[in-house]
Amino acid sequence: MIWAVVPAAGRGARFGGELPKQYLDVGGRPLIAYTLDALLSHPSVHGVMVVIAENDRFWRGMDAVAGKPVLTCSGGAERADSVLAGLNALPDDVRADEFVLVHDAARPNLAHADLDRLLDLGCGDPVGAILAAPVRDTLKRAGDDGGIDRTEPRERLWRAYTPQLFRRMQLSRALAAAQAAGVAITDESMAMERQGLRPLLVEGREDNFKITTPADLARFEFVLSQRHR
Ligand code: C5P
Repeated sequence: MIWAVVPAAGRGARFGGELPKQYLDVGGRPLIAYTLDALLSHPSVHGVMVVIAENDRFWRGMDAVAGKPVLTCSGGAERADSVLAGLNALPDDVRADEFVLVHDAARPNLAHADLDRLLDLGCGDPVGAILAAPVRDTLKRAGDDGGIDRTEPRERLWRAYTPQLFRRMQLSRALAAAQAAGVAITDESMAMERQGLRPLLVEGREDNFKITTPADLARFEFVLSQRHR
């Protein structure tokens, strides 16, 4: 049985507006409710630690989803600080060498089939694994003037998604080491890679997208409208 840490302490500045994106209303529910449903409806997920901002005015309070515990703790300035706080706040009976999932609050369209594959392959890996998808567009390197300097090869380039699956203590140590070194970490895998470890890439569905722009939100609303037909 696996616990998930869900960082939800971002202020969503890139989305615009005051309401952080994880609390945007979608069909009468906050976006994060769909993310928690996706995780907790999976039989292997035992509980979730939601990391919210200090003085969060928007979290509606939730003790359980699908009869499973939903705990909360306070996050930090950067995403990595929030994840580290979440790992530290997990119940004591989550052992140091146990695998935990980390999943963005703003990634509501996680499919069970993806989680199945991540857990199957990741729990068999000495380090752990992440969901990801290959880069399909041609990549351009921009110059200062907005012109194209050159085309970058896209072979072997992947886009990192969440969930990401690592052992509780190993991930805590890797995040703390990055924090101490003042290195900005954009996902958990990056912290592990800095330790010389090589997490496994597990190809996931392209529709496990992160809500970042209004267009992403419209896409998720469309996905939901198709789900209930
Ligand atoms: O900003 P970005 O889209 O990378 O955020 C990814 C996830 O990390 C979001 O769910 C956001 O709420 C969370 N986050 C956090 N603490 C921060 C910044 C972001 O928990 N300080």
